[in-house]
Amino acid sequence: MSDSGIHLAIVGYGKMGQAIERVARESGHSIATTIDPLAPGAEHRDISLGTLAGARVAIEFSTPESAAANVCALLEAGVAVVSGTTGWDREMDTARHLADERGVGFVWAPNFSLGVSVLFRLVAEAASFFAATGAFSPWLLEAHHDGKKDGPSGTARRLAQSIVERTPGKTRFGPAPGNRAIDPELLPVSWIRAGGIPGEHRCGWDAAGESFEMIHRARDRRVFAVGAVRAAEWLEGRKRSCTFDEFLDDVVFGTREGGGQ
Ligand SMILES: NC(=O)c1ccc[n+]([C@@H]2O[C@H](COP(=O)([O-])OP(=O)(O)OC[C@H]3O[C@@H](n4cnc5c(N)ncnc54)[C@H](O)[C@@H]3O)[C@@H](O)[C@H]2O)c1
Repeated sequence: MSDSGIHLAIVGYGKMGQAIERVARESGHSIATTIDPLAPGAEHRDISLGTLAGARVAIEFSTPESAAANVCALLEAGVAVVSGTTGWDREMDTARHLADERGVGFVWAPNFSLGVSVLFRLVAEAASFFAATGAFSPWLLEAHHDGKKDGPSGTARRLAQSIVERTPGKTRFGPAPGNRAIDPELLPVSWIRAGGIPGEHRCGWDAAGESFEMIHRARDRRVFAVGAVRAAEWLEGRKRSCTFDEFLDDVVFGTREGGGQ
């Protein structure tokens, strides 16, 4: 963390926004503002230069419907953005272009936990190995709390895309049809919504006589908040759209040189 701490805006003050506020304060940062049109505890209802109150970086965890507009409004206001909202992939390129055009930092990740960051890399390798055997069929299952608004999760989508890209014969992912055999080109992805599950992702490969699985379970959503706050510390002063892999390589895995602005 920087000595002085960052003046942060929290946009979306639901379960994640409140966890981020706690972790940010514990890490020595100050909260310039909390913005959420519905949450009773939020200080402001919408984003403006006034309600941003001098924040240098915003952490945005809202809803799939509101994330693109929030992120673009923050970038237009010159505030760097860490976004963790899932389910707005189709509008992501607009936000990335805007960040580059305006020279403002932006990073998004579907999952800020360290364990899932490792899982992404292991699954990419495993998918290549299993593809080389020509004997295994991949599958994916994720589980989240019953309030989650998108499915499959952004994390599952990224894992699935990574497996499809590395598995000859697979061209797409999605739910298995309930009334017929699975098209061999489909990577089946299933999801469960129940209770308060913070997040579980299970990737498997199955062959005649053997099976293999990798599982990540988030037991506490604080792990996502810690990752998002660390990403905000890293993003401060960067003036372009960055990838979460750059953050991981610079800060967590230490495999990149420099890092660049
Ligand atoms: N990237 C990660 O590591 C990670 C981890 C957990 C959750 N998530 C994602 O983060 C998002 C939020 O998750 P949550 O558990 O906090 O959900 P939540 O339902 O508890 O909170 C969402 C909040 O967004 C608010 N909101 C609605 N419209 C808004 C707008 N226009 N501007 C600002 N806020 C608005 C709602 O009032 C609510 O308070 C979801 O998309 C979820 O999938 C990502």
